[in-house]
Amino acid sequence: MKTLVIGPGGREHALAVALARDPAVSEVHVAPGNPGMAAIATLHPVDPMDGAAVADLAVSLAADLVVIGPEAPLTTGVADAVRARGIACFGPTAEAAVLEGSKAFAKDVMAAAGVPTGMAHLCTTPEEVVAALDAFGAPYVVKDDGLAAGKGVVVTNDRDEAIAHAAGCERVVIEEFLDGPEVSLFAITDGKTVYPLQPAQDFKRIHDNDEGPNTGGMGAYTPLPWAPADLVEDVLARVLQPTVDELARRGTSFQGLLYAGLALTKRGTKVIEFNARFGDPETQALLSLLDSGLGSLLLAAAQGRLDEVPAPRWKAGAAVAVVMASAGYPESSSKGDEITGIADAEALGATVLHAGTVSSSDGALVTAGGRVLAVVGQGVDVASARKLAYAGVGAIKFDGAQFRSDIAGDVVATSSTTGATSTTEQGV
Ligand code: AMP
Ligand code: GLY
Repeated sequence: MKTLVIGPGGREHALAVALARDPAVSEVHVAPGNPGMAAIATLHPVDPMDGAAVADLAVSLAADLVVIGPEAPLTTGVADAVRARGIACFGPTAEAAVLEGSKAFAKDVMAAAGVPTGMAHLCTTPEEVVAALDAFGAPYVVKDDGLAAGKGVVVTNDRDEAIAHAAGCERVVIEEFLDGPEVSLFAITDGKTVYPLQPAQDFKRIHDNDEGPNTGGMGAYTPLPWAPADLVEDVLARVLQPTVDELARRGTSFQGLLYAGLALTKRGTKVIEFNARFGDPETQALLSLLDSGLGSLLLAAAQGRLDEVPAPRWKAGAAVAVVMASAGYPESSSKGDEITGIADAEALGATVLHAGTVSSSDGALVTAGGRVLAVVGQGVDVASARKLAYAGVGAIKFDGAQFRSDIAGDVVATSSTTGATSTTEQGV
């Protein structure tokens, strides 16, 4: 099977690595990709947002499967453009990707499907905003009703800050604050059959102890030793399958990766958000533990015959991904800082997945974006995976590098002090 992955970042690097490992996959191509992928894939300088160019590339490669990584091309119909040329594409239609693109649409689908989520008001005037904020009280949750790559959300106790954020949005969703640990649960679906992946947890804020602004994600780990044993089964039955069924009922069948961002509140598991693509950096941790073929799985989903292939299998143990970001992130990012030590990190056993890197004209590897690398460690448990990931981070240097030192730290501390493997009190 010839495969083509669309996207530039760490998630696409993880997808390319997992595809390259699948014996059913003969070729891995990526557009545009990044220097980290060059060893395992052929890179093509094609703009992921240009549907015609992506489809042309897929045709010229005679690709059997195209996998679209980021949300932006999905919401503008790049998957539709590929399918229109008769090539199987893993990723929803533009119409179905609105599940991620519009918070208001997602709320409407959840209401119709009976999926548990926070109460919310869609507001279009400052008066409505203030009324909704005061109705829910602090902490305030204010979401831009457009695609904002995880950065359109402000959660704050400061009423003025909440009002100011809302003022910058055309349509804004004000939501009830959901208290409890967050879980990312992904599922592969062809629009009918739904195969959940292992639960993961990501760390959204830039600084340790969840301080500072939201980012795209500064680290992740999987599985979650503290999660309730029936979590996946429960979310499949009450969230994933009803959402997929409701979208099909509306004639906007969802095929691709359905990402449920969940809060495990005292009043049950509730959906914080849906995304229409693999999460970043959860995917970097998750796919390192995948023990079955990714290509065959995604192709079956893209061809509407997921029920004909087995559900994904996972290696025992755990994986931890720690993101290294450039100076200034998330407000800005520093470019052109030389990166050294990747080979040393790999020699220690860590896997280094590139996101914002480029090769400079003199052949050095330099930073080229906010999130630069994800360093993944695998081990028999979260503690050993974490140790390896941080050993890898310690070996890598670039000016102004930022990383959190507490990724998966609480879960390790909890298990080592109490031996507990099943507390639902574990926070992020
Ligand atoms: P979203 O883009 O909806 O995923 O929001 C980004 C982050 O903001 C989430 O991962 C949560 O950490 C936080 N968040 C969003 N909505 C809520 C909510 N209703 N209650 C608490 N935290 C939230
Ligand atoms: N890790 C969060 C996201 O991918 O949206």
